[in-house]
Amino acid sequence: ESSTELDISSIEEGQAIKAIFRKQPLFVRRLTAREIDEANATPASSLRDPQTLEERTKEGHNDVLITMGVCTHLGCVPLGAAEGEPRGEFGGYFCPCHGSHYDTAGRIRKGPAPLNLEVPEYEFTSDTTVVVG
Ligand code: FES
Repeated sequence: ESSTELDISSIEEGQAIKAIFRKQPLFVRRLTAREIDEANATPASSLRDPQTLEERTKEGHNDVLITMGVCTHLGCVPLGAAEGEPRGEFGGYFCPCHGSHYDTAGRIRKGPAPLNLEVPEYEFTSDTTVVVG
């Protein structure tokens, strides 16, 4: 299956980009220090789909959150990856279809979605290049 190479050098802290991976939307977000702190302040055991930010990112790159842009409820594309879009009550992504709120680690926090936004297989091939898939 095909992989996708992304140059993430232009993503500033607090910003995200949308890409396409295997014909589906992919979100790449560079977290601020505050967003990382918020994610780490929430015990994974208290979550519907318990995962830490560390488990959802790569070592040494905890500020780069790469997820599918596909709500785990019924597959809508959540808002929050483009400038000015609402990010929901937990500062991550918001799915307007039925009101699912994801946090700064892309974890489901409120609403009907059962699971966190999926983290695809990927690796850093340099500090600014990621190969997804
Ligand atoms: Fe996202 Fe239903 S598809 S909340």
